[in-house]
Amino acid sequence: METSAPIDATKTTAWADLVKTFGEMKKTGINLRQWFNDDPSRVEKLSFTVNDLYFDLSKNLITPEMIKIFAHLAEEVHLHERTEQLFTGEHINVTEDRAVLHIALRMPDKQQLTVDGQDVITDVHTVLNRMYEFANKIRSGEWRGITGKKITTVVNIGIGGSDLGPVMVYEALKPYSDAGITARFISNIDPNDIAEKTRDLDPETTLFIVVSKSFTTIETMTNALDARTWLLNKLIEQNAINNTEDQCAQAVHHHFVAVSTALDKVAAFGIDPDNTFGFWNWVGGRYSVDSAVGLSLIITLGPACFKEFLDGFHSMDMYFRTTDYEKNVVVLLAMMNVWYTNFFGAESHAVLPYNQYLHRFPAYLQQLTMESNGKSVRWDGTPVTTKTGEIYWGEPGTNGQHSFYQLIHQGTHIIPADFIAFVNTSNPVTCSDQDVQELFLSNFLAQTKALAFGKTAQEVRREGNKGPLVAARTFNGNRPTTSIFGDTLTPYSLGELISLYEMIVFTEGTVWGIDSFDQWGVELGKVLAKQIAPALAHDESAYEQQDQSTQALIQWYYAHRH
Ligand code: F6P
Repeated sequence: METSAPIDATKTTAWADLVKTFGEMKKTGINLRQWFNDDPSRVEKLSFTVNDLYFDLSKNLITPEMIKIFAHLAEEVHLHERTEQLFTGEHINVTEDRAVLHIALRMPDKQQLTVDGQDVITDVHTVLNRMYEFANKIRSGEWRGITGKKITTVVNIGIGGSDLGPVMVYEALKPYSDAGITARFISNIDPNDIAEKTRDLDPETTLFIVVSKSFTTIETMTNALDARTWLLNKLIEQNAINNTEDQCAQAVHHHFVAVSTALDKVAAFGIDPDNTFGFWNWVGGRYSVDSAVGLSLIITLGPACFKEFLDGFHSMDMYFRTTDYEKNVVVLLAMMNVWYTNFFGAESHAVLPYNQYLHRFPAYLQQLTMESNGKSVRWDGTPVTTKTGEIYWGEPGTNGQHSFYQLIHQGTHIIPADFIAFVNTSNPVTCSDQDVQELFLSNFLAQTKALAFGKTAQEVRREGNKGPLVAARTFNGNRPTTSIFGDTLTPYSLGELISLYEMIVFTEGTVWGIDSFDQWGVELGKVLAKQIAPALAHDESAYEQQDQSTQALIQWYYAHRH
């Protein structure tokens, strides 16, 4: 079916209402202190509960009345139709002519979905069950290395979506790792990465998982070949195997498995098709952590944990799909992002997890959000009609507080920020009678309070400050934040969180009219790197083809390479 032309959001009546609201706000002034005083039910009107997650939007630069405008905008850009296209497998990734079906990866096996003649749910669960079976063999020790030793380390070799999701989730759910198996992640083609990750590894107890949707990505293919050489050399060095073709093939069989959509290429690499787990071209790399790409997670955390993770995704998917827009916090969060980007001129968006286990969550979101919505053309090839995309960044609190929060509090930029915390911790500690989790969470609460309400010059003066100190110690407030406060960081709540951001990205993409599922912007650099590599290896004609700046850099390289 033809995908309809994007609707220009800037021409809708809801957009005109936002323009008017913005103008009025500028005139009357933005004052969260006053807005809270004037409307005692502001928090009630702007807070939402979804299962075990509580969302407080009240400290944002919006009025409760704007919810209607946001919902209207969603209707006017036909979010409902597009959501149904997403959930039913229409080819909304138009530039690659593909369905976008990550939502199917977490649908229960009782449901049915046939897309392009493929029984999607049966296929998804067939692979899941194979992975569960394989993971159980590794976890129980039934599957062993070539010398009979139990596998104790899995090494995920992949990059982008084949790395960021698994590493983020592995870190986030460390307390759920229960089989004495640890995971490592090699992504960068920089030889330092593989060198450091393999330095202290025992080849006899290591399983490599080569993860690549395309199985052509230069970083992953290079690292996989390096890892194979490392494995065989080490095993031979340790007299664990003889240097024969048969023994080497056996070693690869015991120590290498793969995850890919390109099963023929995996076989050509020498990995047994029986030890290969597939997925499909309708799973985008950055949307793939809940596919076979999560194999390292199933091995380390166990199938039960992974199933709970998928359930969390599915429940948020269904909440997004079925909840009325005025009550749909996913849609409202997306519209607020549009509001800040297109009206306030916000360039970036901070994600600040108050949970150390989520320390890779901002990095994960960078690919999800920026590879999806960093586009200048719409899905019909026409230019976008307004600014798109947000620069996502962040660090776990409280570390960020002692680093970049100064700029968020008192700088000249407007930086909408998501503060994410969980009430309960896996590691309760009391220090000098102080519950440390409470001390930690008081920071989470204090920061959004300070950002919203600030500190007036009058209050600063009242403390005895004078001269330039008054201005320096004044906080203007009105710095927008959203608090996402969960019960406990579990596989389920993590699944919910990821789906939440996926659907925010999708909704913003719909407003902006962009295909959030292709990534042509990463291609040019890859092609050029292939042309430059021979020049670094002294191929004169490749060198001659370079521009002056690149030639000068290559000359510097020639002069300094030992
Ligand atoms: O270069 C970008 C990209 O295509 C991402 O979208 C993807 O997640 C990553 O490379 C890795 O791709 P693959 O899984 O095919 O190796």
